[in-house]
Amino acid sequence: MRIAITRAVSPSIADCELTHLERSPIDLDVARAQHAAYEAVLADLGCRVERLQVEPDLPDSVFVEDIAVVLDEVAIITRPGAESRRGERSSIQRALEPHRRLEHIRAPGILDGGDVLVVQKDIYVGLSTRSDDEAVRQLKLIVADLGYTVTGVEVRGCLHLKSAVTAVSEDTLLINPDWIDATDLPGHAFIQVDPAERSAANVVRVGDTVLFAAAFPRTGERISAAGFDVQPVDASELAKAEGALTCCSLIFEAPDRN
Ligand code: GLY
Repeated sequence: MRIAITRAVSPSIADCELTHLERSPIDLDVARAQHAAYEAVLADLGCRVERLQVEPDLPDSVFVEDIAVVLDEVAIITRPGAESRRGERSSIQRALEPHRRLEHIRAPGILDGGDVLVVQKDIYVGLSTRSDDEAVRQLKLIVADLGYTVTGVEVRGCLHLKSAVTAVSEDTLLINPDWIDATDLPGHAFIQVDPAERSAANVVRVGDTVLFAAAFPRTGERISAAGFDVQPVDASELAKAEGALTCCSLIFEAPDRN
């Protein structure tokens, strides 16, 4: 069974953290409708969507990805780089407890899940304003016996590693080379985003389908031309809160207990 943990858009999303974007008005109804459509696409693709309770006082809480890193063997509850986001952890922890053994990133380490890209047994961690070397050190200890390699990667000009690079398959990465050096991710094939679509590198892979942001059609065409099944998802209102497609879910496999 494939599970997708999501959370309803907070009514306080207008007070979200912003790092590289100017604040602009967010239409809450549109954001909620886009988020519901995103969940519907995940369900259509076979995910069991587990939507968590809305968190009215946690503006960024729709972006559940930042709060955990879910591997096959263990889930790591992060210590988000933005203090305003640390209250998001307790509900994510409760949601993951039935599915995984839990570990935690501890102070003084900081880690956002958006900075963690897992490609088979390679774990890349963006060294950003939200994630640091101390978290990389702790992550290495947590997965030491599980066969993963953990590598810190410099990112520039964007919020998270996964703003700059995500996986479209087990061996092919979609990348914005302005924000990360491809040489830091050796052994993979690359598709570059269209140069006019800087923020297009964030896609969600569900089975063999690659969900891309509808705002970036040229990059969608590039992914399609490389032989992948693509599906556009409109998340333009959530993008104003500096969140991308991967940010809105935690997707993982779990035994079917029903
Ligand atoms: N607004 C998303 C974040 O900064 O975490």
